[in-house]
Amino acid sequence: MSIKKRLIISYIAMLLIPTIIFVVITFFTSGILKNTIKGVYNVGFHGEPVENIIEKDSIAINNIKNYMLSHKKESENANFFENQNKYLNDQTGVAIRKNNNIVYMSPFLKNGVEHNILPKFGEYEGANRPHSIAENKFMLLKQYDFYVEDGSKVSIFLFLNVSSAENIFYSFFIIEVILLVIIFVLTSSILTFIMSKSIVKPLEKLKDGVILIKNGNLDFEINVTSNDEIGELSTAFEEMRFRLKKSLEVQLQYESNRKELISNISHDLKTPVTAIKGYVEGIKDGVADTPEKMDKYINTIYIKATDLDKLIDELFLFSKLDLKKLPFNFEKVDILNYLRDCIEELKFDLDKKNINIKLQCKLLEKIYVTADREKLKRVIMNIINNSVKYMDKDIGEIFINIKNDKNFCTISFKDNGMGISKEAIPYIFDRFYRSDFSRNSETGGSGLGLAISKRIIEEHGGTIWAESENYYGTNIIFKLKKWRDDYGKEDINS
Ligand SMILES: Nc1ncnc2c1ncn2[C@@H]1O[C@H](COP(=O)(O)OP(=O)(O)OP(=O)(O)O)[C@@H](O)[C@H]1O
Ligand SMILES: [Mg+2]
Repeated sequence: MSIKKRLIISYIAMLLIPTIIFVVITFFTSGILKNTIKGVYNVGFHGEPVENIIEKDSIAINNIKNYMLSHKKESENANFFENQNKYLNDQTGVAIRKNNNIVYMSPFLKNGVEHNILPKFGEYEGANRPHSIAENKFMLLKQYDFYVEDGSKVSIFLFLNVSSAENIFYSFFIIEVILLVIIFVLTSSILTFIMSKSIVKPLEKLKDGVILIKNGNLDFEINVTSNDEIGELSTAFEEMRFRLKKSLEVQLQYESNRKELISNISHDLKTPVTAIKGYVEGIKDGVADTPEKMDKYINTIYIKATDLDKLIDELFLFSKLDLKKLPFNFEKVDILNYLRDCIEELKFDLDKKNINIKLQCKLLEKIYVTADREKLKRVIMNIINNSVKYMDKDIGEIFINIKNDKNFCTISFKDNGMGISKEAIPYIFDRFYRSDFSRNSETGGSGLGLAISKRIIEEHGGTIWAESENYYGTNIIFKLKKWRDDYGKEDINS
C-alpha cells in the first residue's frame, strides 16, 4: 500500500478509534452516573421513583396545610414540621411562611434561603421551577399558597437540592474531557509509532546501505519487504548497487585482461625481435661467412620480420575490433557463390598440400546473408588456414556445409586434422590462446586468428563455435543472419 494511502488511513483511524472508544466508555460510565444520581436523590429519570417523590411532596404539603388550618400557634409545633421534613427526600427542604414571617425552615436551607428571596404569595403557586437561593446554588422550588381562617397568607415552599446533581454532572464532564484527551493522545501515539516504524525502519536500512557504498563496500543486500514508495526506492537502490558491483567487477576484469594482454603482446613481439637481433649479430660477427649462410640468415630475418609484421597487423585489427572501432560494410551476399569464389582462390595452394576441399550443399535456391565481404573472407581464411596448419593426415579433407534455417544460415568447416582436446575447446576463441601442442610446434601463429573471427562473426549478429575430437578432426561452425529487405522479407531468388 502506498505511503499516501497509509497516512490517510492512519489519520482517519486517529479520529475514528478514539471517538468510538470514547462513545463506548461514555455509554458505560453514563450508567454509573445514572446510578450515582439515583443514589443521591433516590429518584430515577424514568418510572416509579419520580412519582414517589411527587406523591411524598403532595402528602407533606397536605399534612402541613391541614395542620396550619387546625393549629393557630404553629410556633409551638416545630416538631410536627420537623417530622414532615424528615418524611420527605433528604435533599428536599421545607420553608413555611405565614404572612411575612417564616414559621419553619429546614436546617439545610437556613444558610442559603433569605426571607426576602422567597417568591411572593401567589407568585409561583403550584409551579415546579428552578430557583436561585444564592450564587451558583440552584434548587427546584415548589410553592403552595393558601389562606387560613384569620385571613393570613400561608405559603409552603419545597426546595429540591439539585446542586449535588450539578456537581456530579460537572465532575462527570471533567472526567469525560480528560478521558477523551487521554484516548486521543494514546491512540495517536500508538498509530504514529506504528506508522513511523513502517517508514523510518526501511529508510534507516537505505541510509546504512548508502554509507556502505560510500565506504566502497558493495557486498551487501537490501531486503525489500514493503511494496510502497520506499519499497520501490529500495528496489531501485538494490538494482543500482548490483549494477555498480557488476561494473566494478567488469572494470577489474578489464584491468586484469589489459595486464595479460600487455604481457602476451610483449612475449609474442619479443620472440621474432630476439631472433632477428641474433641473426643480425651473427652477420655482424662474421658467422655468416659463406654466401649460402648469408642467404640463409637474410632469409630467416625476412621471415621473422614478416611474422612480426603479420602479428602487428593482427594485433591492430584485434584491438580495433575489441574497441568496436572497425567499420563494417554490410551487404546482401549470395553465400553459395561467395564460398565458391573463396574455394577457387585457395584451391591451388590446397591441392599442393594434398588437401581436398568440398562444398556440400543440396539446396537449389539462393541463400542471401547479411555480411561484410572482406571481413567474412578473413574469418573463412582463418578457419581454412587452421585446418591446413593442424592437418596431420596424408590426404587432408575439408568439407564445407551450408544449412538454411528460418532466420539464419549455418556454415560449417569440417576437417580430418589432428583435432582439439576437449579441455582446449572452450578456450580456442580466446585471444592468444594456442593449445600446448600448437604453441610448441613449428606451425607458427599468435593465437589471435579465432579470436578475431569470433569478434567479426559477433559484429555480424551471429555466433561461432567448435566441435572437435582429438585425432579425428575439427568442425568450426558459424551462423549468419539471413538478408532481409526493408519489409523484413527474405529474398528467395532461385
Ligand atoms: N582446425 C584445427 N585443428 C586443430 N586445432 C585447431 C584448429 N583450429 C584451431 N585449432 C587450435 O586452436 C588454437 C587457436 O587457433 P587460432 O587460429 O586462434 O590461433 P593460431 O592458429 O594458433 O594462430 P593464428 O591464427 O593467430 O596464426 C590453435 O592454436 C590450435 O591449437
Ligand atoms: Mg589460426
